[in-house]
Amino acid sequence: MKIFVITGAGVSAESGLGTFRDKDGTGLWARFDPMKLATPEAFRRDPGEVHAFYNARRRNLLASEPNAAHIALARLETGLAERGGNLTLVTQNIDDLHERAGAARVLHTHGELLKARCVICGETSLWKDDLGVDDPCPRCGKKGGLRPHVVWFGEVPLHLDEIYGALNDADLFVAIGTSGSVYPAAGFVSQARRRGIRTCEINLEPSDNADQFDERRYGPASEAVPAWVDEIFVADR
Ligand code: APR
Repeated sequence: MKIFVITGAGVSAESGLGTFRDKDGTGLWARFDPMKLATPEAFRRDPGEVHAFYNARRRNLLASEPNAAHIALARLETGLAERGGNLTLVTQNIDDLHERAGAARVLHTHGELLKARCVICGETSLWKDDLGVDDPCPRCGKKGGLRPHVVWFGEVPLHLDEIYGALNDADLFVAIGTSGSVYPAAGFVSQARRRGIRTCEINLEPSDNADQFDERRYGPASEAVPAWVDEIFVADR
């Protein structure tokens, strides 16, 4: 069986990382203005403020741990491979919790918080410390060119060719912990339906495009995802 999973901030919520649009108003974009912190224009205007925002999130990430949902998805990847199938795990999240839970192949379509990109030489480097305008690029040595390796509003998400290739070839499409409000990721479920692929949503509450899913499972990801993975293995015997 070939399963395509897209995860969003909800899969990391129970690890202590903020979501963006939770209905209770606790989301990051209810407290911070994305147009001042998550656009290329904002970075040009005030790189120090943008770095400070991502430095705080990077420190929070390094103090966080994967939860049972991340661990279950890593188990799904291994179990499917053992059965001759495969998991394509795509995430909108910029954290590394899928990897720390053991997932071997993760497509970060919105980039990675623990990497820095040099706009001068183009090199992307692992970066776990605070990042600032005076930090020299590890490759070209020049200062002033490093930015978080994160896809900002108005920029093109990463790995789209590989993502659509795997999506079109899947037997099952599953969206986990995402509000379905940011494109192109929010449109993946429509593409799956056009291809006649079965769709499932696992979320705390119905997402913006809940009506496009054949199956819907609601509850905290740390409970709902392991239960779903267990059922996949029973069904796939
Ligand atoms: N378990 C499962 N789902 C949860 C949990 C939980 N414990 N807590 C919250 N959720 C759900 C919320 O109900 C919501 O539907 O996770 C979803 C989070 O939605 P958003 O905050 O909009 O996050 P996401 O969908 O990942 O946002 C997509 O928007 O700002 C951009 O780049 C940013 O990648 C992000 C993109």
